[in-house]
Amino acid sequence: MYVVVTGGGGFLGSHLCDALLHRGDRVLCVDDFSTADPENTAHLRGHPGFTFVRADVTAAFDVPGPLDAVAHLASPASPPDYHRRPLETLAVGSRGTENALRLAVRHRARFVLASTSEVYGDPVVHPQREDYWGNVNPVGPRSVYDEAKRFAEALSMAYRRSLAANVGILRIFNTYGPRMRPHDGRVVSTFIRQALDGEPLTIYGDGSQTRSFCYVDDLVRGIIAMIDSDLSGPFNLGNPSERTVRELAELVRETTGSASGLEFRPLPVDDPARRRPVISRAQHELDWFPQVTIEEGLRNTVGWFRSRRGRSSAGRTARESVGC
Ligand SMILES: NC(=O)c1ccc[n+]([C@@H]2O[C@H](COP(=O)([O-])OP(=O)(O)OC[C@H]3O[C@@H](n4cnc5c(N)ncnc54)[C@H](O)[C@@H]3O)[C@@H](O)[C@H]2O)c1
Repeated sequence: MYVVVTGGGGFLGSHLCDALLHRGDRVLCVDDFSTADPENTAHLRGHPGFTFVRADVTAAFDVPGPLDAVAHLASPASPPDYHRRPLETLAVGSRGTENALRLAVRHRARFVLASTSEVYGDPVVHPQREDYWGNVNPVGPRSVYDEAKRFAEALSMAYRRSLAANVGILRIFNTYGPRMRPHDGRVVSTFIRQALDGEPLTIYGDGSQTRSFCYVDDLVRGIIAMIDSDLSGPFNLGNPSERTVRELAELVRETTGSASGLEFRPLPVDDPARRRPVISRAQHELDWFPQVTIEEGLRNTVGWFRSRRGRSSAGRTARESVGC
């Protein structure tokens, strides 16, 4: 297959590029490096199946075909990134998604949208199934991301209904693993960095809010299963094993052997209290189920963070908070 991966220079996108190349596909990665660490794809330069195009997908773009699939992952994804780039986040969710959809339609290619559990907002239904419509504050600070993704879903479905585009939607829940940026403000990367630096682990609220954490290799298998299908979804992809943020902090302290303490701060606005996907739809229709335990995933991730210590602090952002 020949697959375009927008946002292919980022955390998930670079692992997706690796996995597609590994099974023999050709990959064209489009990224503007706005939140990417160039190191993520440095090992792919020179790979005969890999092409990199530095471009902003909010500007119309085309690539030589024939293409088989477009996986649209380009978007700021962590709260500090989308708070820092609110207009760009809305633009990539709207114009960027339409450009990626047009590219797929022009080439009669499969289109897969990387949407998010954030479309459920601060859910009043728990755990979250795909037929839950969510509880999103449309004017709150997180709305630039949540509503951009909700619009991207609506646009994708309109292309499917009106233009018979072969569109599929994935709602991705918190995913972690090697290549997360130490300063991206996500809870797993923040805790690991703080533990390794001997700093207190920052907990927002009392730490009783829950998240479910999926290891990146599991998630990428799910994206590839969706690329290979012609199902519309939406499908939740995530690990249904739910942990409190405080439990996660304890696990990170154990895995790193750190003596760091815990520091409690006020909860950010609209921070969801609970998050856990129901994944039976993806399980039945995509034959997908996460296999990596949090203990094993954290060991791999901590190992990678250790191996990178002292190297670049790419992606450092002004404000850090617990999130996505
Ligand atoms: N990682 C998660 O836990 C998670 C959870 C839910 C959804 N997602 C979705 O998965 C996708 C990838 O997330 P990630 O965690 O890898 O984030 P990331 O920030 O590491 O990757 C996003 C990539 O998109 C690129 N990008 C952003 N705007 C762009 C533009 N206008 N043109 C071209 N490239 C652009 C960035 O440079 C970056 O490489 C995102 O769409 C995100 O919303 C991720």
